[in-house]
Amino acid sequence: GIPGYVKIVEVGPRDGLQNEKHIVPTAVKVELIKLLVSSGLPVVDATSFVSPKWLPQLADAKDVMEAIQNVEGARFPVLTPNLKGFEAAVAAGAKEVAIFASASESFSRSNINCSIEDSLTRYRDVASAARNLSIPVRGYISCVVECPVEGSVPPAKVAYVAKALSDMGCSEISLGDTLGVGTPGTVIPMLEAVTDVVPVDMLAVHFHDTYGQAMLNILVSLQFSRILQVFISINTSEYLIIYIWFIALSMGISTVDSSVSGLGGCPYAKGASGNVATEDVVYMLNGIEMKTNVELGKLILAFISKHLGRPSGSKAATSMSKV
Ligand code: HMG
Ligand code: MG
Repeated sequence: GIPGYVKIVEVGPRDGLQNEKHIVPTAVKVELIKLLVSSGLPVVDATSFVSPKWLPQLADAKDVMEAIQNVEGARFPVLTPNLKGFEAAVAAGAKEVAIFASASESFSRSNINCSIEDSLTRYRDVASAARNLSIPVRGYISCVVECPVEGSVPPAKVAYVAKALSDMGCSEISLGDTLGVGTPGTVIPMLEAVTDVVPVDMLAVHFHDTYGQAMLNILVSLQFSRILQVFISINTSEYLIIYIWFIALSMGISTVDSSVSGLGGCPYAKGASGNVATEDVVYMLNGIEMKTNVELGKLILAFISKHLGRPSGSKAATSMSKV
């Protein structure tokens, strides 16, 4: 990425609205996406072309895509679990797609009804169809820290899935702490394992905030660095001086997923709360002088909490709208 720049991938219209009990009208979704784009967000997960039986909340995927066809200024990846979804997405005008695998076997079955290996086979087909049409593919990995059934997920398992997604041609891989239980103590070893097999500039982090750790996990991901080489040199002129040089060749993650108003959760991860709020992430990044191109004032006008009839899940947005 560009030094000092963090790319925010807004997932609210997809990860957020997929989890709402009451289905949000298409017109509200479209208005939300337009407001998010006008705040400067460069990428907005728009919807998912999944089975409407599994996820009635996003059954209007085609209508949403058609309504945002002419919206300029942002990219709109959509989730596609199989070729059927991919073809429907392309027919509706999608120019970018995302596939979503899991690092845990049980979660793979409850989310997409197949094993990890079967999902990777399916995704290879999607990725190759996408390549033929020059459509970029983002790869999500769920349960990178913990699975609701199996408990902690070994970092090697996450690295295995990341490598598979990278090998099939994903241009970006988003590491999802689906349950929002990670801390730097579990996130850092996971990042170490993944960056052993996939370049760090391909990676994004995707934190849910169930335990209030998301912002901290983002900060450690941005500042994450690996010491990849150690040089030792010895100067023997007068005294014996030993220099040890640590060279960090691999620097932090520069793509962060977040959701306006902290919307979200996954219908197949009971008890998991929303994603980290985009407003809070932008506020923090402004504070450490990282650029995002997002205008916080415009972002808090994204009216979705008014529509949902409950307070915003963003502390920054709540505080700013009181002033
Ligand atoms: P299945 O039942 O095994 O699929 O579901 P199937 O192939 O046997 O098909 C069953 C029915 O679904 C058939 O219809 C298909 O035509 C239809 P019927 O003949 O019964 O009328 N179907 C479809 N319809 C529309 N679009 C499609 C599609 N595919 C099949 N693409 C399937 C397998 C993957 C389809 C299902 O499990 C599914 O749709 N799952 C979606 C789950 C989902 O969207 N989860 C949330 C997103 S992941 C997430 O939130 C995590 C993330 O944010 C990161 C993180 O936080 O960790 C990304
Ligand atoms: Mg998610």
